[in-house]
Amino acid sequence: MIEISNLHKSFGAKKVLNGVSFNISPGRTLCLIGKSGCGKSVLLKHIVGLLEADQGFVKVDGKVVGAMKKKDIFGIRRKMGFVFQGAALFDSYNVFENIVISLYEHGEKDRNVLEKEAKRVLSAVGLLPDIDDCSQEEFNDEWEILSKKKPSDLSGGMRKRVGVARALVGSPDYIFYDEPTTGLDPVTSDRIDALIANLADKLNVTSIVITHDLFSVAKLAENVVMLDNGKVRFEGRPEELKESKDEVVLEFLKRYS
Ligand SMILES: Nc1ncnc2c1ncn2[C@@H]1O[C@H](COP(=O)(O)OP(=O)(O)OP(=O)(O)O)[C@@H](O)[C@H]1O
Ligand SMILES: [Mg+2]
Repeated sequence: MIEISNLHKSFGAKKVLNGVSFNISPGRTLCLIGKSGCGKSVLLKHIVGLLEADQGFVKVDGKVVGAMKKKDIFGIRRKMGFVFQGAALFDSYNVFENIVISLYEHGEKDRNVLEKEAKRVLSAVGLLPDIDDCSQEEFNDEWEILSKKKPSDLSGGMRKRVGVARALVGSPDYIFYDEPTTGLDPVTSDRIDALIANLADKLNVTSIVITHDLFSVAKLAENVVMLDNGKVRFEGRPEELKESKDEVVLEFLKRYS
């Protein structure tokens, strides 16, 4: 369960969040929408403890995120996977290294453990075949080719999948996606949406998806929150969003449909 309560955040004189409150129940998928610059990424960074609120709090599983000791923040972050805006892979690292970097930096140095986890998450996002659906030899061949590729050798859609795979390391309870389909063509976007829906379903994770894409909202969201001017302007189901008479919502729908 994630509870966001009366969150305020300013950068200098600029007020970005001005009393944002809403909850996300376990296992649900929530889409967070709103104009560019309205504070969606800033809000997500508060949830994962990368930014500290001026006022208000975020609670994850009953614990206030900002007030934690460093050690506890790491504990809570381990329950969270984060797909950053723009995929944000390390260009000089190959796929395997990109995926296990955080595990490695947290002390897991056993190559077998790291490889096993990388194989598991790459299968989960469909970049490797399901180990039960092919021979060990086939699987290993594909792994050898994929794991050594650099981000520049991958298509945009594949890079996003690697970004999602990285977020799945350690089997988190929560996955946050910051604009996972921005910049992708419609077919590839659909595939990423299908992957997000499939993971939510199969792994029963709680997901927050930041998006400008109303097709994605319609396909993925059980709940929608729209930020505007530092506050929650709309909160409800996607069907309710479509029927909203609120002028700010209508303007957003017109602009992004
Ligand atoms: N670390 C920071 N220091 C100063 N200002 C910041 C910082 N992070 C974000 N901002 C400002 O806060 C505002 C909200 O930024 P944010 O990245 O959350 O927007 P967004 O809703 O995610 O937009 P987009 O849809 O374009 O990604 C912007 O005006 C941004 O410039
Ligand atoms: Mg953003």
